[in-house]
Amino acid sequence: MSQVALISGGGGGIGGAAAHKMAAAGMTVVIADFDHAAAETVRGEIASAGGKADALSVDVTQTREVKALVIDVASRYGRIDVLANIAGGSMYTKRMEEFTWAEWKQVIDANLKGTFLMCREVAPIMQKQKSGRILNTASNYGVTGSALRTPYSAAKAGIIAFTKSLALELAPDGILVNTVAPGPTDTPRVLEKESAEARNRRWSSIPLGRTGKPEDLAEMYYFLTTPESAAITGQTFHVNGGVVMP
Ligand SMILES: NC(=O)c1ccc[n+]([C@@H]2O[C@H](COP(=O)([O-])OP(=O)(O)OC[C@H]3O[C@@H](n4cnc5c(N)ncnc54)[C@H](O)[C@@H]3O)[C@@H](O)[C@H]2O)c1
Repeated sequence: MSQVALISGGGGGIGGAAAHKMAAAGMTVVIADFDHAAAETVRGEIASAGGKADALSVDVTQTREVKALVIDVASRYGRIDVLANIAGGSMYTKRMEEFTWAEWKQVIDANLKGTFLMCREVAPIMQKQKSGRILNTASNYGVTGSALRTPYSAAKAGIIAFTKSLALELAPDGILVNTVAPGPTDTPRVLEKESAEARNRRWSSIPLGRTGKPEDLAEMYYFLTTPESAAITGQTFHVNGGVVMP
């Protein structure tokens, strides 16, 4: 049986690229996203390329939906080898004192709570298997901070620390937990918001002279599922063209 990878946010730019990469490597990929149309598009592309994929709806901030999703995946496949928590994002850019608590919490929930809920439901399955790889998603802003993104940077910093703690808890069961921290990455969502001028300005601050592609990130997520990365846990991997060197 091929390995089973559950990817939250698999309908998005980075999550979609990770889904394609893992499916091309022979994994069965479950694309879980609250944008069902986007998940279905990625599923269709993978199927057309000869890969195995399912598209399932979930809002990772909702406890009941996450529980139902994981039960569904476990009953379809009997195992979960890889959990990639890629759903998330920064919904607001504004000064801290302008945030309502509801807005602040929305960003924390989409990133940190969603990651926690998915890990909590999947970990017992991996513990029974005595194996598994969990890949969480931060951002360079989780290390540097970012003006106008206080909840997002706090959530991403939280994910980095959560990953380290969880890596310690799950190491005795042979489960590896790591964080991938994208830098500026050209996903459709980012590109549609950004003018060519802003994009050029951004490029000039990146030592490698270019923004990341979703495929750059997909390579890192995939590497962290392979036997070659079997001694790595609790770490944060920055894929950012050198814009931050923590
Ligand atoms: N693109 C970048 O420049 C960049 C930089 C740093 C970090 N990141 C992080 O990488 C991850 C992916 O970003 P992306 O650029 O591919 O964004 P994206 O918007 O293209 O993809 C995110 C996907 O997650 C889904 N999603 C969001 N909230 C969800 C929820 N509550 N439940 C289920 N699905 C949900 C969306 O529908 C979308 O398909 C995010 O965690 C983001 O914070 C991105």
